[in-house]
Amino acid sequence: MAILKIAKMGHPVLRRRAEEVADPRAPEIRRLIADMLETMEDAPGTGLAAPQVHVPLRVVIFTVSAERSRREDGEDGEDADAVPLTVLINPEIEPIGDETELGWEGCLSVPGLMGRVPRHRAIRYSAYGLDGQRFERKAEGFHARVVQHECDHLDGILYPQRMIDMSQFLFTSEMHHYAPLGGTLAESEEAESEEDQHAR
Ligand code: NI
Repeated sequence: MAILKIAKMGHPVLRRRAEEVADPRAPEIRRLIADMLETMEDAPGTGLAAPQVHVPLRVVIFTVSAERSRREDGEDGEDADAVPLTVLINPEIEPIGDETELGWEGCLSVPGLMGRVPRHRAIRYSAYGLDGQRFERKAEGFHARVVQHECDHLDGILYPQRMIDMSQFLFTSEMHHYAPLGGTLAESEEAESEEDQHAR
């Protein structure tokens, strides 16, 4: 396993359409996914798409902890569920309904920045897993947002291209100003406590 270099906004590999994986069970795909997992854990990140490690193939990995899901979707949100580590090979997404919602996103390829991005609230997605079997899931809220963000990478799209209000594109270090406007409270609390530490 190896920690791979992450491509940043401006690198052509992030702009092109990634290619379908011919054999989801091929040993080199297994190796790629193992390296992506190590890279994502090191970063750390919620998800990673193969083009972000300079590999133009339709492969995505992601995971959502119960704590993160509760924070993003609200304490009482029926959407708030943990998602175990998931591998998507040649994924397809289909929106369920017309509803979209705004939420904050960051990206390992756009370091230090965050933006408020509209996404479909609910989707159905399918993909091949590591075992070479095609599976299908429904997702809502933050889970649906992560899948849409990661799969956009496979079509050469970064989240700033999805934004409609560029006044909500900002440095993560300024995030704490945005809590009253729907910024995630936990992140703003972290930002403030970091500032307190610097102040001391
Ligand atoms: Ni990203």
